[in-house]
Formats: sequence, structure tokens, C-alpha cells
Amino acid sequence: KKRLLIATGGGDCPGLNAVIRAIVKRASFEHNWEVLGSIDAFNGILKDPMHIIELTPEKVAGIHIQGGTIIGTTNKGGPFNWPIKNPDGTWTTVDRSQDFLDRLRYQNIEALINVGGDGSQRISQQLFELGCPVIGVPKTIDNDLSATDFTFGFQTAVDIATDAVDKLVTTAASHHRILILEVMGRFAGWIALHSAIAGGAEVCLIPEISYNIKNIMQAINERIDRGHDFANIVIAEGARPVDGDMTFVESDEPGAMKIKLGGAGLRLAQELKNAGCTIDIRVTILGHLQRGGTPNAFDRILASQFGVKAFELVLQEKWGSMVAYRHPNIVAVPITEAIEKYNYIDLNSDLVATARGLGISLG
Ligand code: F6P
Repeated sequence: KKRLLIATGGGDCPGLNAVIRAIVKRASFEHNWEVLGSIDAFNGILKDPMHIIELTPEKVAGIHIQGGTIIGTTNKGGPFNWPIKNPDGTWTTVDRSQDFLDRLRYQNIEALINVGGDGSQRISQQLFELGCPVIGVPKTIDNDLSATDFTFGFQTAVDIATDAVDKLVTTAASHHRILILEVMGRFAGWIALHSAIAGGAEVCLIPEISYNIKNIMQAINERIDRGHDFANIVIAEGARPVDGDMTFVESDEPGAMKIKLGGAGLRLAQELKNAGCTIDIRVTILGHLQRGGTPNAFDRILASQFGVKAFELVLQEKWGSMVAYRHPNIVAVPITEAIEKYNYIDLNSDLVATARGLGISLG
């Protein structure tokens, strides 16, 4: 039998299990294929003993409605950055890509499907350049990958963030407060802008536009002049003032435990206070709630389409390709197309024009 290995890497995302299920279902029609999963991205293959599991149609039955990934994920390690602890307690990384390819050969694995975001698809491309038979499937709640109209997980994250805005609007109105919601998005403000439009926020701050606190105060004061005594602000975690950096805090030691703190919303609250805001302010950091739980119907469908198409590309041996959504089609693009350019919000787009047209201040 031919063996296919699936890995899911990077931050998890609603729809990962729907991709896995679709690949396994589609592969089960070709009786000479066996599907395996590498536990915790490619680290399962690199571990001793290896940690890979067989993925049968029975095992994946019904998992498309579950959040997370049944084969686990991580953003640490991988074939090119395997962490090793030095005797003095510090960490370093080594390149184990040749070892990785040898292990695939030893396991008779003839195809890899790597489901992941920007970082994971860079690994796919590097492996492809070393001769590895790999197909990429794009994944991220951030929607910041180029070459595809949308990634699965994004619409579910927008639903979750919109639900949060809806709830914060009613409590802001009752208490006559400013409520700030911090959502994910380090470099691109897709979740922030979509949920601000859907939920009806007055201010939306995104990484693509450095904000000026005076403009935000002006928007709030104008709103007060129009007779309103509350406001809702959505801010992406990577948004920053014109004269400041991202507040994102993380340890960058390769093997170290990571602690990440939301900070953009708290900083904004302080800046509003310093700028003379007299309305009470509260901050909510939505955090990993945006990544958990069941995918919505759109994401289940997109993820299933990606899974089926990825297996077709395996049969066609289109190594080095990534599946992509180009409405209304699912197509194959070179992985390089997804990683050579970052998918920022185009400030001249209709989406931004809609936000401005609704009177949402973008700072
Ligand atoms: O890329 C997905 C994402 O959820 C980002 O929006 C967020 O900044 C980051 O991952 C959080 O990563 P971690 O899982 O390491 O906390």
C-alpha cells in the first residue's frame, strides 16, 4: 500500500478535523492508499519512538464538527529547527531535515500533506526543495495567507468575535461605558475589521493603520455630541499608535515555555484616559476563545473542499503545490505564492470603504 502522512502545524483552527476527515474519506476510495497522522506537526516523525497513528475512515467519522485537531499541533520544533537544551540550560536549534526525509523513506511514506499557516508552508517549501513529495493546505484564523481568498477558521473566528461585540454593545449601553475588545491579528486586522463591521463598533484599530489617539477621542466626542453616552472599540492585538510598537510579549527561546500577554487593548484604555476621556472604560481580551470550538458551516465546507482537493493533487503528484480558494473554485497554486507576500488588508478595498462609510473610525 502507498502511505500518505498528514501533519497539522502552528496554531490550531476550527476546520482542521474537517480537512483530516476529507483526506481520509477521499483516500479510502483508492484502495491502495493508507493514511497516517504525525502527532504534533512533524515532531511525531522526529521523535524516538516515532509518534504516528493510522487514520482510518472509522477513526475520523464525524470529526468535522469538532474544534482543534485530533493529531495535535505545535509551533515548536520541526525538521529545520529542532530544539536542543545545552548543558548550561540555554536552548539551541539544529537542522534535522535529512534525518526527517530518511525517516519518511524508512516508513515508506510517499506523500505528505502539510496543513498549516505561513510558518508551516515555509517548511513545506523547504522540504519540497529537498525533494520531498509535499502538498500544502493553508490554515489560519488570521486570514493573512496570500494566494487564497479565505482560509478556513477565519469565518468561525469572526463569528466568535462578532458575538463578543454584540454582547459588549448591550453592556456598554447599559453602563454608559467605553468597552474595548482586543481580538487576534498580529500583523493583519481581518478579524478586527470584519467583527467591527458585523457587530457595529464605533472604532476599529488594525495593524495596517497606526492610530492617532486624538482621532479616536474626536470620534468619541462627536458621538457624545450626537447624544450617545457609550462606545464600542475593536482593536487587533497588533494595532499600535503612530508613536509606539506592538505590545505583544513573547519569549523567543526555541525550547522555552511561551507566555503571551494581550496588551493592545489595555494600552489603548490608558491612552484614552491620558487623552482626557472621562467615560468609564473596560477591556476584554478575547484570546484563544477565537480558535476553539466547532467550525461554522462555511469553514467545514471550505476545509472539506481543501482536503478532497489536496488528495487529488497527491494522485496527480503535483508536489510543491498548495490548495487555494479562488471563488468559486478550489485550485492548486505554487506554495511560494502563499509565502512570498503577506496578506494585509488593502486600505483601498471596498471592505475599508464600507467601514469608513458606516462611520467607523479607523484611528
Ligand atoms: O496565528 C494564529 C494566532 O491565533 C494569532 O492570531 C495569534 O497572535 C497567535 O496565533 C497566538 O499564538 P499562540 O497559540 O502561540 O498563543
